[in-house]
Amino acid sequence: MGIKIAGVGMYVPPRVLTNHDLEKIVETNDEWIRTRTGIVERRIADPEVATSDLAYEAAKIAIERANLKPEDIDAIICATITPDMVFPATAYLVAEKLGIKRPGFDLEAACSGFLYSSTVATAYLRSGIFKNILVIGAETLSRITDWQDRSTCVLFGDGAGAVVYTIDDSPSDILAMELGGDGGCGDLLYMPAGGSKMPASEETVKNRLHFIKMNGRETFKMAVRMMTESVEKVMKKANLTKDDIKLVIPHQANIRIIDAIAEYLGVSREEKFFVNLDKYGNTSAASIPIALAEAVESGRISRGDIIILVAFGGGFSWGAIALRY
Ligand SMILES: CC(C)(COP(=O)(O)OP(=O)(O)OC[C@H]1O[C@@H](n2cnc3c(N)ncnc32)[C@H](O)[C@@H]1OP(=O)(O)O)[C@@H](O)C(=O)NCCC(=O)NCCS
Repeated sequence: MGIKIAGVGMYVPPRVLTNHDLEKIVETNDEWIRTRTGIVERRIADPEVATSDLAYEAAKIAIERANLKPEDIDAIICATITPDMVFPATAYLVAEKLGIKRPGFDLEAACSGFLYSSTVATAYLRSGIFKNILVIGAETLSRITDWQDRSTCVLFGDGAGAVVYTIDDSPSDILAMELGGDGGCGDLLYMPAGGSKMPASEETVKNRLHFIKMNGRETFKMAVRMMTESVEKVMKKANLTKDDIKLVIPHQANIRIIDAIAEYLGVSREEKFFVNLDKYGNTSAASIPIALAEAVESGRISRGDIIILVAFGGGFSWGAIALRY
């Protein structure tokens, strides 16, 4: 049975925060941010806008491009670490906005969330339970970013991307999938407070524990290693050579991470990797579907092209999917 990408969509909030704007907030400069990360600007949602609002905008486009109506969607998976609230799941809030009553849930695998959600959607479709699944990656990371911490606040942005996966009788477009995780690295990239271990209190707020904490150097090294390995593994599983691959769409965290992966794989980054982190920064679970939508919109990929999606994030979590677009 053939699983396909029926449609993709993306949405970012209109407000732009440039590196120069950040110079007025923390002790940093455009040159440092550009050379260390490749990021030039990012989008920030207005205060009244929540993750489900961004998700809804991206979802509408993906459903329309799939030539479907919201009623055709059987289930919704929303990958996010910044849900509107702890519960109900953002997926239900998006369903309401779309005007449909459907099963759904949020999936939390940090920056790998969209990739993990895509593997879950694939399993659902293969099992025959659903025919069309909407998978969304959506984040308002600006709400959990410490705007006093220059080592992290320059990295993140807000946005959403969405994909409708469907199934028919033709051969599957999903060629291979690969997932990995390492809970031993949890404290290298995390948000300490707000969960059952450390519920919100005056103390947690005062100590700025409701924000992203990251060991940048260790995260960087693991990201390069595990994303490189994941790409190699899916290529092997799907019996693909470098020449077969039109484009790699990596999680958009840092241009130096992407450069290092390209170098290890022995391919040209400019030719084989899609990059838009200069415009949006790291949008966690939203980064791959936003990049996928832009790769389609810009003509970097067309129907029939073989692409690889590859992610890495908190957990640590990582993985890759090889597919025919
Ligand atoms: C965060 C990151 C860009 C930092 O780059 P780096 O080269 O490792 O830089 P370091 O953290 O070693 O810091 C180097 C110096 O720059 C300073 N610095 C940190 N942030 C800065 C900023 N925004 N502006 C100016 N200087 C900054 C540090 O204080 C340090 O100064 P020191 O040498 O006087 O102590 C990099 O580690 C990274 O991208 N890591 C992966 C992050 C990521 O992608 N995470 C998500 C994965 S899903």
